[in-house]
Amino acid sequence: MRLISVTIGILALIVCTTAKLAPTIRLSSGYDIPVIGLGTFESTAGDAEQAVKDAIDAGYRHIDTAFLYGNEVEVGNAIRAKIDEGVIKREDIFITTKLWSTFHEPEQVEKAFQRSFDNLNLGYIDLYLIHYPVSYRRVLQNIRLPSDDVNAFYVFPVDKDGKSQTTDVDYVDTWLAMEKLVQSGRVRSIGISNFNSVQTDRILSIATIKPVTNQIECHPNLNQRKLINFSGQRNITITAYSPLGRPHTQSGKKLAISDPKVLELAQKYRKTPAQVVLRYTLQNGAIIIPKSTNKNRIQENFNIFDFELSDTDMQIMHDLNNNYRLINFESDKDNKNYPFNIDF
Ligand code: A2P
Repeated sequence: MRLISVTIGILALIVCTTAKLAPTIRLSSGYDIPVIGLGTFESTAGDAEQAVKDAIDAGYRHIDTAFLYGNEVEVGNAIRAKIDEGVIKREDIFITTKLWSTFHEPEQVEKAFQRSFDNLNLGYIDLYLIHYPVSYRRVLQNIRLPSDDVNAFYVFPVDKDGKSQTTDVDYVDTWLAMEKLVQSGRVRSIGISNFNSVQTDRILSIATIKPVTNQIECHPNLNQRKLINFSGQRNITITAYSPLGRPHTQSGKKLAISDPKVLELAQKYRKTPAQVVLRYTLQNGAIIIPKSTNKNRIQENFNIFDFELSDTDMQIMHDLNNNYRLINFESDKDNKNYPFNIDF
């Protein structure tokens, strides 16, 4: 009996360790990032832990989280569990987390980072991003926590009329504080998220350490061709969040994933519509981080490296672009750092 369970254990280990891995690309910092990662936005803390374990077993070696998502502890637990099981080593995994907008003042950056670092408890962070260029006021919500605790504040502060409480902290100053984190050795690469082209160039004009990526919403309905080209010319990768177009929040009608042309391509390549949509964004030049907490869909989303969309079919996919933005932070649109008031 014992022999059987040991044999099953060894077989399971072989299956896990021989899971085919995704290609990687080299960042300007010199580190490699797998071109697909597991997104965890809206993964509840409870679901995130199992999802990360399932993803690692499926071959994912890149996990994306954020202070905002409230699941850093569980993401870290899952990765450490897989290290303890011997499935991966720390250096096999690329972990991204993000600085939330209530901590943009340079003196807040270190404190917020340290909390994420402790939450994840992985020895170092591979990539730390400024989550969003607009900064928010810190408004106390939890009076039981000391006011120097990062969890004491609302993440989306609003005034009594429901208006977003933004401030004018310059993200350039935030960036200089991010560079110090790299110098401290606790994070390997730094980057930005939800920045437009003008904001990107402002960062580049003062940076000693360049952003390695800009993580933006990107899917066939918002294919971001201009920002991808612009960033590529500056050796900044694009990471596509919501690469499936968040089908659960939409009626589905306007999304590529349910477009008849995509269904046709799915049949042609013997793939699912989700796989066609993800493969498109990969070939469009972005790193992708589809979110799922469902084991089968986690595997489905990873299984996109055995086919390639032809040039003609890429053009069919390009033509689905209608600049349909799902996450637009609209209540911040009067702030001077609001990123979506210009073309790209
Ligand atoms: P679930 O977590 O239940 O799988 P995006 O990454 O574009 O933000 O989309 C995430 C949403 O898409 C989640 O609601 C997720 O649900 C769902 N999803 C993830 N993978 C697939 C898939 N292969 N097919 C359909 N829906 C998916």
